[in-house]
Amino acid sequence: MADSNTVEPLFSIRNLSVVFPGNTKALSKINLDIRAGECLLLAGSNGSGKTMLMRCIAALLDPSEGEIFFRGRPLNQAGKILRRELGIIFQDADAQILGETVEEDIAFGPENLGLSKAEVAQRIGETLEALGLTEKREAPPRRLSGGEKRRLAVAGVLAMGCDTVIMDEPFANLDWPGVVQTLEIIRDLKNRGKTLIILTHELEKVLAFADRLVIIHRGIIRCDGKPAEVLDQLESEWGVRDPRKTYSAVEDCSWL
Ligand SMILES: Nc1ncnc2c1ncn2[C@@H]1O[C@H](COP(=O)(O)OP(=O)(O)O)[C@@H](O)[C@H]1O
Ligand SMILES: [Mg+2]
Repeated sequence: MADSNTVEPLFSIRNLSVVFPGNTKALSKINLDIRAGECLLLAGSNGSGKTMLMRCIAALLDPSEGEIFFRGRPLNQAGKILRRELGIIFQDADAQILGETVEEDIAFGPENLGLSKAEVAQRIGETLEALGLTEKREAPPRRLSGGEKRRLAVAGVLAMGCDTVIMDEPFANLDWPGVVQTLEIIRDLKNRGKTLIILTHELEKVLAFADRLVIIHRGIIRCDGKPAEVLDQLESEWGVRDPRKTYSAVEDCSWL
Protein backbone atom coordinates (compact mmCIF):
# COMPACT_ATOMS: atom_id res chain seq x y z
CA MET A 1 0.00 0.00 0.00
CA ALA A 2 1.59 3.27 -1.06
CA ASP A 3 0.90 5.87 1.62
CA SER A 4 3.06 8.75 2.74
CA ASN A 5 4.91 6.50 5.24
CA THR A 6 6.26 4.28 2.51
CA VAL A 7 7.75 7.13 0.52
CA GLU A 8 9.10 9.07 3.48
CA PRO A 9 12.83 8.44 3.86
CA LEU A 10 13.89 6.30 6.78
CA PHE A 11 16.60 8.82 7.64
CA SER A 12 16.74 12.42 6.45
CA ILE A 13 20.02 14.13 7.17
CA ARG A 14 19.93 17.90 6.77
CA ASN A 15 22.93 20.27 6.78
CA LEU A 16 24.75 18.10 9.27
CA SER A 17 28.14 19.27 10.51
CA VAL A 18 30.44 17.90 13.18
CA VAL A 19 33.25 20.16 14.29
CA PHE A 20 35.78 19.07 16.91
CA PRO A 21 37.67 21.45 19.20
CA GLY A 22 40.45 23.16 17.27
CA ASN A 23 38.02 23.57 14.36
CA THR A 24 38.59 20.07 12.95
CA LYS A 25 35.65 19.60 10.62
CA ALA A 26 34.79 15.90 10.61
CA LEU A 27 31.54 16.44 8.67
CA SER A 28 30.46 19.47 6.64
CA LYS A 29 26.88 20.20 5.65
CA ILE A 30 25.86 16.63 4.92
CA ASN A 31 22.52 16.18 3.16
CA LEU A 32 21.42 12.61 2.64
CA ASP A 33 18.16 10.67 2.52
CA ILE A 34 18.32 6.97 3.28
CA ARG A 35 15.35 4.99 2.03
CA ALA A 36 13.89 1.86 3.58
CA GLY A 37 15.05 -1.34 1.90
CA GLU A 38 18.05 0.07 0.11
CA CYS A 39 21.60 -1.19 0.39
CA LEU A 40 23.71 1.93 0.61
CA LEU A 41 27.47 1.81 0.47
CA LEU A 42 29.17 4.77 2.12
CA ALA A 43 32.72 4.78 0.83
CA GLY A 44 35.66 6.97 1.64
CA SER A 45 39.28 6.69 2.65
CA ASN A 46 40.39 6.51 6.31
CA GLY A 47 39.42 9.63 8.20
CA SER A 48 36.86 10.76 5.61
CA GLY A 49 34.02 10.88 8.15
CA LYS A 50 32.17 7.57 7.70
CA THR A 51 32.16 6.54 11.36
CA MET A 52 31.26 10.05 12.55
CA LEU A 53 28.26 10.05 10.20
CA MET A 54 27.24 6.62 11.49
CA ARG A 55 27.54 7.82 15.08
CA CYS A 56 25.26 10.76 14.29
CA ILE A 57 22.69 8.51 12.58
CA ALA A 58 22.74 6.17 15.58
CA ALA A 59 22.29 9.12 17.98
CA LEU A 60 25.65 8.32 19.60
CA LEU A 61 27.08 11.72 18.69
CA ASP A 62 25.37 15.10 18.73
CA PRO A 63 26.11 17.11 15.60
CA SER A 64 27.45 20.65 15.90
CA GLU A 65 24.91 21.79 13.34
CA GLY A 66 22.02 20.39 11.35
CA GLU A 67 19.39 17.76 11.98
CA ILE A 68 18.55 14.13 11.42
CA PHE A 69 15.02 12.84 11.11
CA PHE A 70 14.12 9.18 11.59
CA ARG A 71 10.79 8.32 9.95
CA GLY A 72 10.03 12.04 9.91
CA ARG A 73 10.74 12.59 13.62
CA PRO A 74 13.74 14.47 14.96
CA LEU A 75 16.24 11.91 16.16
CA ASN A 76 16.11 13.08 19.78
CA GLN A 77 12.40 12.25 19.85
CA ALA A 78 12.85 8.88 18.20
CA GLY A 79 15.24 7.32 20.72
CA LYS A 80 13.15 4.34 21.74
CA ILE A 81 12.06 3.28 18.27
CA LEU A 82 15.55 3.94 16.89
CA ARG A 83 17.14 1.60 19.45
CA ARG A 84 14.64 -1.08 18.53
CA GLU A 85 14.93 -0.71 14.77
CA LEU A 86 18.56 0.16 14.17
CA GLY A 87 21.24 -2.47 14.62
CA ILE A 88 24.89 -1.48 14.56
CA ILE A 89 27.78 -3.77 13.76
CA PHE A 90 30.78 -1.87 15.07
CA GLN A 91 34.18 -2.13 13.46
CA ASP A 92 35.68 -3.61 16.60
CA ALA A 93 33.75 -6.85 17.13
CA ASP A 94 35.40 -7.40 20.53
CA ALA A 95 34.03 -4.16 21.89
CA GLN A 96 30.51 -5.37 21.13
CA ILE A 97 30.71 -8.60 23.14
CA LEU A 98 28.53 -8.57 26.24
CA GLY A 99 27.93 -12.19 27.22
CA GLU A 100 30.07 -14.96 28.68
CA THR A 101 28.74 -17.40 26.08
CA VAL A 102 27.49 -16.97 22.52
CA GLU A 103 23.95 -17.72 23.65
CA GLU A 104 24.07 -15.22 26.50
CA ASP A 105 25.48 -12.60 24.19
CA ILE A 106 22.62 -12.98 21.70
CA ALA A 107 20.07 -12.98 24.54
CA PHE A 108 21.15 -9.59 25.82
CA GLY A 109 19.24 -7.49 23.23
CA PRO A 110 15.91 -9.37 23.23
CA GLU A 111 15.96 -9.52 27.04
CA ASN A 112 16.40 -5.76 27.17
CA LEU A 113 13.33 -5.41 24.96
CA GLY A 114 11.38 -7.07 27.79
CA LEU A 115 10.35 -10.09 25.71
CA SER A 116 9.13 -13.26 27.43
CA LYS A 117 11.62 -16.04 28.21
CA ALA A 118 10.00 -18.27 25.62
CA GLU A 119 10.22 -15.57 22.94
CA VAL A 120 13.88 -14.86 23.80
CA ALA A 121 14.69 -18.58 23.60
CA GLN A 122 12.98 -18.87 20.23
CA ARG A 123 14.85 -15.90 18.81
CA ILE A 124 18.17 -17.23 20.07
CA GLY A 125 17.53 -20.59 18.45
CA GLU A 126 16.54 -18.99 15.14
CA THR A 127 19.48 -16.63 14.93
CA LEU A 128 22.03 -19.27 15.99
CA GLU A 129 20.69 -21.40 13.15
CA ALA A 130 20.56 -18.55 10.64
CA LEU A 131 24.18 -17.58 11.30
CA GLY A 132 25.58 -21.09 11.60
CA LEU A 133 26.54 -20.61 15.25
CA THR A 134 24.44 -23.38 16.82
CA GLU A 135 27.49 -25.49 17.61
CA LYS A 136 29.15 -22.49 19.29
CA ARG A 137 26.19 -21.88 21.57
CA GLU A 138 28.15 -22.47 24.80
CA ALA A 139 31.45 -21.06 23.54
CA PRO A 140 32.99 -17.92 25.05
CA PRO A 141 32.66 -15.21 22.37
CA ARG A 142 36.27 -14.08 22.77
CA ARG A 143 37.49 -17.45 21.54
CA LEU A 144 35.61 -17.15 18.24
CA SER A 145 37.40 -16.32 14.98
CA GLY A 146 37.10 -12.82 13.51
CA GLY A 147 34.42 -13.95 11.05
CA GLU A 148 32.48 -15.75 13.78
CA LYS A 149 32.60 -12.68 16.04
CA ARG A 150 31.13 -10.59 13.26
CA ARG A 151 28.43 -13.24 12.76
CA LEU A 152 27.73 -13.09 16.48
CA ALA A 153 27.26 -9.31 16.31
CA VAL A 154 24.82 -9.79 13.41
CA ALA A 155 23.02 -12.50 15.39
CA GLY A 156 22.46 -10.01 18.21
CA VAL A 157 21.00 -7.49 15.79
CA LEU A 158 18.74 -10.08 14.12
CA ALA A 159 17.52 -11.34 17.48
CA MET A 160 16.45 -7.78 18.31
CA GLY A 161 14.38 -7.77 15.13
CA CYS A 162 16.17 -4.69 13.74
CA ASP A 163 14.99 -3.68 10.25
CA THR A 164 17.99 -1.47 9.56
CA VAL A 165 21.59 -2.55 9.96
CA ILE A 166 24.69 -0.36 9.81
CA MET A 167 28.01 -2.15 9.35
CA ASP A 168 31.16 -0.14 10.01
CA GLU A 169 34.13 -1.59 8.08
CA PRO A 170 32.67 -5.11 8.07
CA PHE A 171 35.76 -6.58 6.37
CA ALA A 172 38.35 -5.06 8.69
CA ASN A 173 40.80 -7.63 10.08
CA LEU A 174 39.13 -10.57 8.34
CA ASP A 175 40.90 -13.22 6.33
CA TRP A 176 39.40 -14.46 3.08
CA PRO A 177 37.01 -17.01 4.67
CA GLY A 178 35.89 -14.33 7.11
CA VAL A 179 35.21 -11.92 4.25
CA VAL A 180 33.19 -14.59 2.42
CA GLN A 181 31.17 -15.35 5.57
CA THR A 182 30.47 -11.65 6.01
CA LEU A 183 29.38 -11.30 2.38
CA GLU A 184 27.01 -14.24 2.81
CA ILE A 185 25.48 -12.46 5.78
CA ILE A 186 25.10 -9.25 3.81
CA ARG A 187 23.38 -11.14 1.00
CA ASP A 188 21.10 -12.82 3.53
CA LEU A 189 20.20 -9.52 5.23
CA LYS A 190 19.41 -8.07 1.82
CA ASN A 191 17.21 -11.04 0.96
CA ARG A 192 15.33 -10.46 4.21
CA GLY A 193 14.55 -6.94 3.00
CA LYS A 194 16.64 -5.15 5.64
CA THR A 195 17.87 -1.63 5.03
CA LEU A 196 21.65 -1.89 4.91
CA ILE A 197 24.19 0.88 5.35
CA ILE A 198 27.71 -0.38 4.80
CA LEU A 199 30.72 1.80 5.59
CA THR A 200 33.88 0.71 3.86
CA HIS A 201 36.71 1.68 1.56
CA GLU A 202 36.86 -1.88 0.23
CA LEU A 203 34.46 -1.48 -2.66
CA GLU A 204 35.78 -4.49 -4.55
CA LYS A 205 34.41 -6.82 -1.88
CA VAL A 206 30.82 -5.70 -1.75
CA LEU A 207 29.83 -3.30 -4.51
CA ALA A 208 27.79 -6.00 -6.29
CA PHE A 209 25.25 -5.84 -3.43
CA ALA A 210 24.90 -2.06 -3.39
CA ASP A 211 21.88 -0.25 -4.80
CA ARG A 212 23.55 3.05 -4.16
CA LEU A 213 27.08 4.35 -3.69
CA VAL A 214 27.85 7.48 -1.72
CA ILE A 215 31.40 8.83 -1.65
CA ILE A 216 32.54 10.91 1.30
CA HIS A 217 35.86 12.74 1.34
CA ARG A 218 37.09 15.12 4.04
CA GLY A 219 33.65 15.18 5.62
CA ILE A 220 31.87 16.23 2.43
CA ILE A 221 29.63 14.06 0.27
CA ARG A 222 31.21 14.16 -3.18
CA CYS A 223 29.02 11.83 -5.17
CA ASP A 224 25.77 9.92 -4.64
CA GLY A 225 24.00 7.65 -7.08
CA LYS A 226 23.92 4.32 -8.87
CA PRO A 227 27.25 2.53 -8.32
CA ALA A 228 28.34 2.44 -11.96
CA GLU A 229 27.55 6.12 -12.45
CA VAL A 230 29.41 7.13 -9.31
CA LEU A 231 32.46 5.08 -10.31
CA ASP A 232 32.54 6.89 -13.64
CA GLN A 233 32.91 10.17 -11.73
CA LEU A 234 35.54 9.10 -9.18
CA GLU A 235 38.32 11.59 -8.62
CA SER A 236 41.69 10.22 -7.53
CA GLU A 237 42.01 12.62 -4.56
CA TRP A 238 38.95 11.00 -2.94
CA GLY A 239 41.13 7.97 -2.21
CA VAL A 240 38.63 5.37 -3.42
CA ARG A 241 39.68 2.88 -6.05
CA ASP A 242 37.46 1.78 -8.95
CA PRO A 243 37.12 -1.98 -8.41
CA ARG A 244 36.19 -2.66 -12.02
CA LYS A 245 39.89 -2.89 -12.70
CA THR A 246 40.52 -6.62 -12.68
CA TYR A 247 43.66 -8.67 -12.88
CA SER A 248 44.08 -11.37 -15.45
CA ALA A 249 47.77 -12.15 -14.94
CA VAL A 250 50.04 -12.53 -11.93
CA GLU A 251 52.24 -9.68 -13.09
CA ASP A 252 49.20 -7.35 -12.96
CA CYS A 253 48.46 -8.22 -9.32
CA SER A 254 49.66 -5.03 -7.74
CA TRP A 255 47.88 -1.85 -6.74
CA LEU A 256 50.84 0.19 -7.85
N1 LIG B 1 37.46 12.97 19.08
C1 LIG B 1 37.94 13.54 17.97
N2 LIG B 1 38.58 14.74 18.01
C2 LIG B 1 39.05 15.33 16.89
N3 LIG B 1 38.91 14.82 15.67
C3 LIG B 1 38.29 13.64 15.55
C4 LIG B 1 37.77 12.93 16.68
N4 LIG B 1 37.19 11.78 16.24
C5 LIG B 1 37.35 11.77 14.91
N5 LIG B 1 38.01 12.88 14.50
C6 LIG B 1 38.34 13.20 13.10
O1 LIG B 1 37.16 13.12 12.32
C7 LIG B 1 37.48 12.69 11.01
C8 LIG B 1 36.56 11.60 10.57
O2 LIG B 1 36.80 10.44 11.32
P1 LIG B 1 36.02 9.07 11.06
O3 LIG B 1 34.58 9.34 10.88
O4 LIG B 1 36.40 8.15 12.16
O5 LIG B 1 36.66 8.57 9.68
P2 LIG B 1 36.43 7.20 8.91
O6 LIG B 1 35.46 6.38 9.71
O7 LIG B 1 35.93 7.55 7.57
O8 LIG B 1 37.78 6.54 8.84
C9 LIG B 1 38.93 12.28 11.02
O9 LIG B 1 39.69 13.27 10.40
C10 LIG B 1 39.26 12.17 12.50
O10 LIG B 1 40.60 12.48 12.72
MG1 LIG C 1 35.67 4.54 10.55
